[in-house]
Amino acid sequence: MKRVVVAPGDGIGPEVIPPALDVLRFFHPDWEYIPVYLGYECWKRTGDALSAKTLDVLKKADLILFGAITTPPDPKYHSVVLRIRKELDLYANLRPVFGNGFDILIVRENTEGLYSGIEWQEKDRACTLRVVSEAGSRRIARFASACAKKRRRHLTIGNKANVMKSDAYFLEICMDEAEKAGISIDKKYIDSLVLDVLQHPSRYDVIVTTNIFGDILSDAAAYLEGGLGMLPSANIGKSQALFEPVHGSAPDIAGKGVANPIAAIRCVSLLLKYNGEKPLATEIERAIQKTITDGIKTPDLGGTASTEEVGRAVLQNLVNVKKETVDQ
Ligand code: IPM
Ligand code: MN
Repeated sequence: MKRVVVAPGDGIGPEVIPPALDVLRFFHPDWEYIPVYLGYECWKRTGDALSAKTLDVLKKADLILFGAITTPPDPKYHSVVLRIRKELDLYANLRPVFGNGFDILIVRENTEGLYSGIEWQEKDRACTLRVVSEAGSRRIARFASACAKKRRRHLTIGNKANVMKSDAYFLEICMDEAEKAGISIDKKYIDSLVLDVLQHPSRYDVIVTTNIFGDILSDAAAYLEGGLGMLPSANIGKSQALFEPVHGSAPDIAGKGVANPIAAIRCVSLLLKYNGEKPLATEIERAIQKTITDGIKTPDLGGTASTEEVGRAVLQNLVNVKKETVDQ
C-alpha cells in the first residue's frame, strides 16, 4: 500500500495526468491516491501557489505524480516545482531518453547550481549565485555512478570546467566517485555534448551534469524521441520520489485536448520501476509502442488523435496483454 499524491497543476497538466493515473490505478487499484491543488491557477484563486498544508501532504507522500505548473512573470511568485524539489530534497532528476539503437540516462543535479535560489538585484545588475557544493556533487555523482554500474558501466560528465571553477570542482568529484564505482568515464564540455548526443546517441550510457545543463540537455535530447511530449522524469530523494513530464504546462495548447499524454504515462512507468516493479514498466512501454505503431498519435507526433484517445488506446493495450496472459 502506497500513498500517492497526485498534483495535476496548470495548463495541460490536468489533461495528461488523468490518463496516466488510469494506468497507475489499473496496476494498483488499492493504493491511496490523494489529489492536491497547487500552481498558478491555485495562486490566482487563493493567493498561495503552494500552501503549507499542501506542502505537508507532499512531504508525507511515498510517491508523487505531478503534471505541470505555469510560472507567471511575477517577481513575487516563486516556482512551485523548484520549491518542492528543494523542500523535499529531491536531489536526482533522472531523464531517460531511448529509441532505436540508443538508451541514454540523463542524471541532472536537482537542488543547487544555477538554481540555488541565491539571487539579488543591485542598481545596475542582477546576480544569481551558482553553488556547487561537495555534498551536493558527491551524492549526485554517486547516484549516477550507481546507475551506470547497473547499465553499461559508462559515465559521461557534462561540464564547462574550461570556464567555471564550480564546474572544475564538480568534474573532479564526479571522476572520484566514478573511479570508486569502477566505471569508465569521459568528460565532455556541455555545448559540444548537446550536439554529439543528437548526432551519436548510441555512444552514450549515463550522463551526469549540473542543474541547468541537465535542463537544457534533456530538452534537446527530446528531439531524438520526436519531441517534448515523450519524455518523463523522476525526481528522487532519500525516501520519496516525484514523477513529472519534462514538458511544461504548454498554455498554447491547453484546453484543446490535443496534448500528448505519453510523457505523463511514462512517468507512471518510471514510478513503477522506482517501486521495484520493472516488468510492469516494460508492459507500459510496450503498450505505448503499440499505440504509436497503430498510428494513434497526437498532433505533435504527426497524428490526429486526442489526448483521451491515446490514453484509452494505451490502457486498452495493457488490458489486452493481461487478458492474453490469463487466457494462456
Ligand atoms: C524542467 C522545467 C523546470 C526546470 C522549470 C519549470 C522550473 O523546465 O523540469 O525541466 O527548469 O527545471
Ligand atoms: Mn526544462
